[in-house]
Amino acid sequence: MAPYIGTATSRVDGIAKVTGGAKYAAEVNVQGLAHASVVGATIAKGRIRRIDTSAATGISGVLTVLTHDNRPPMANDDQAYKDEVAPDGTPYRPLYDGRIMFNGQPIALVVAETAEVARYAAALVRVDYHEDAHVTDVYRQRDAAVPIRVPSNPLEAMFAPPKPRGTPDQALAAAAVRHEGEYFVPIEHHNPMELYASTVIFEADGKLTVYDKTQGVQNVQRYVCSVFGMAPQDVRVMSPFMGGGFGSGLRPQFQVVLAVLAARALRRSVRLVLTRPQMYALGYRPAMIQRIAIGANSGGTLDAITHDAVTVTSQYENFYRQETGWSGLLYKSANARYVHRLAQLDLATACDMRAPSAASAVYALESAMDELAVALKLDPLELRLRCYSDRDQHEDRPYGSKALRECYRQGAAAFGWDKRNPAPRSMRDGSDLIGWGMATGVWEALQMPITVRIALTANGHAEVACATSDIGTGTYTIMAQVAADMLGLPLDNISIKLGDSSLPQSPVEGGSWIATSVANGIATTAGAIRDEVLRLAKQIPNSPLANAAPDQVVLADGKLVSRRDSSRAVPIADALRQGALDRIELEQTTNPASDHSRANNTHSAIFAEVKVDEELGVIRVTRVVSAVAAGRILNTKTASSQILGGVVWGIGMALHEETLIDHKFGRIMNANIAEYHVPVNADIGDIKVIFVDEPDNSNPLGLKGVGEIGIVGVAAAVANAVFHATGKRVRDLPITLDKLLG
Ligand code: MOS
Repeated sequence: MAPYIGTATSRVDGIAKVTGGAKYAAEVNVQGLAHASVVGATIAKGRIRRIDTSAATGISGVLTVLTHDNRPPMANDDQAYKDEVAPDGTPYRPLYDGRIMFNGQPIALVVAETAEVARYAAALVRVDYHEDAHVTDVYRQRDAAVPIRVPSNPLEAMFAPPKPRGTPDQALAAAAVRHEGEYFVPIEHHNPMELYASTVIFEADGKLTVYDKTQGVQNVQRYVCSVFGMAPQDVRVMSPFMGGGFGSGLRPQFQVVLAVLAARALRRSVRLVLTRPQMYALGYRPAMIQRIAIGANSGGTLDAITHDAVTVTSQYENFYRQETGWSGLLYKSANARYVHRLAQLDLATACDMRAPSAASAVYALESAMDELAVALKLDPLELRLRCYSDRDQHEDRPYGSKALRECYRQGAAAFGWDKRNPAPRSMRDGSDLIGWGMATGVWEALQMPITVRIALTANGHAEVACATSDIGTGTYTIMAQVAADMLGLPLDNISIKLGDSSLPQSPVEGGSWIATSVANGIATTAGAIRDEVLRLAKQIPNSPLANAAPDQVVLADGKLVSRRDSSRAVPIADALRQGALDRIELEQTTNPASDHSRANNTHSAIFAEVKVDEELGVIRVTRVVSAVAAGRILNTKTASSQILGGVVWGIGMALHEETLIDHKFGRIMNANIAEYHVPVNADIGDIKVIFVDEPDNSNPLGLKGVGEIGIVGVAAAVANAVFHATGKRVRDLPITLDKLLG
């Protein structure tokens, strides 16, 4: 049987998705379901003086209107609201008290017999506020930004800026060629297709089954239990399908708290679906003001790099990732320094958004490198090759694998980079200026502890279970592929159970770590299954595998087979019959290797072509080549889709996306997908994805993950192409035509 791993296997859940068989959080229907609608604050900061719900309550069909005044009890200590990925600080508590900390903050929940009545009645809630002065403009808060205080939580401490090295200021001052620039990335929002929703099923005994849109069912389960003082066995959280998360669903979101609150108050099942505008109050990619300085010698190698950044967070939690660290990692430089401060604004806390930190920081780094290449009169690709680093300079250690050189080579060849005329404004197509730009991408290759249960039945079927989510990336499919190969069964004989908090332990699906974690987890448990089949097979009289050791046999074609002599085999059915079993069920936990002697990263090289209308400044991205090194690729089809989506998003980051705030009101003005621009089909040209070969043995399957690497560097490649086309450098995303013509 040919292996499934590495092939372009179509999604095993594809038919369920296109036929509507796959039910999302807002689609689960039960008898007697009530519907809730959120009322959001219309000020950015202050407190509620009085909230008048009488008009709403008086509407026929309204069951209750919950506010901080009349809600059921909730935990009153910060720790209870700290989820698995909570940043340092004091987590927001939905409907807890009358304080307003961000515009759009939920302040009341109307529950009614129908969604329409709930929504109408929500419009009738009247609020009298005491308003305090607010600040929502990162530039206004820039000077007051606070340095990162490294928290005790080890997960968060991981994101503190790396240690500086050498004497960067002296090296910069002495450098033959210097480039220094300030770059800006605005606040951006996730905008997944599926709206945020929770359907809470109130069981007869008061237990809850919560269908929630989340990237981590067990994170939500623990959170709901601690906020409401419930026992783990009384709360089951389900998220079998998810229409995109991109990081917005890593932390439990307020809709799940509100839906549970209502279900407990009414002792009835409740659904809450947020509107698209309401989703803009959930979290966002933090804006980032960043100053990069690079000192180089005339030969095009780096002497020093410094990266100073201000990112945005709320007044109550310090969210950040390792924004500045990427600069000292990617290129060889003996001297490096990082400063990262937080502008605390009257907004909801920022959160992870696809390739958090890297998408923003590498945009600046790779723009700065392009500017340095111009200053050095060097081809930008050649500059990257001269600065190439074979070691992780933060920890001074080699990489487990790093095939970035091959990404540059294959990407450049596929794009035709050698035909580039280096002079800006030198390439044309009629009234369009043509620009070619390139950039590097980098992300982490992480593995997390995970537990996988496999039940193998005598008829050659297997059920594989783990509480991970599939946020739309294809987790069901890669799990089935790995299980089929490891158990030697056809793909159709594998069923996958995930997205259920009662299943074996999984971390949230994020950080590009799930494919690596769950696939190696399946391999571990499948190995234990094989050992058990072998133990039984050996008991068969005159067993052909009587003397075989576990590493000498494999499961293949429904049999346990000797690696050395394939004629020596025992069908799974025979082995189980020997043990008088109809199934073997085992559960194993897999931890990542504790070897920290090597660094694990994914890399990419992105080449972009833009055509810019010379008179109108309209920019079109006509071609992109993304060459990615991410270890072994489990599924070339779903992995390509991840990279394609990342490239599209990078184009959006470069040219379209920007959350606009009216700072007078501290309110997002374009909280909808009509005015928050993302690329549409007409904005997208030809995108070619290449996976270069990158053998890696940092984990048994040689995996690295591809969820995030696709977006990193894309905005810079496009921005650099715009410079090459026009001779104008815009350092303030998105690059809109007014900035280009201005
Ligand atoms: Mo990803 S931003 O870790 O969901």
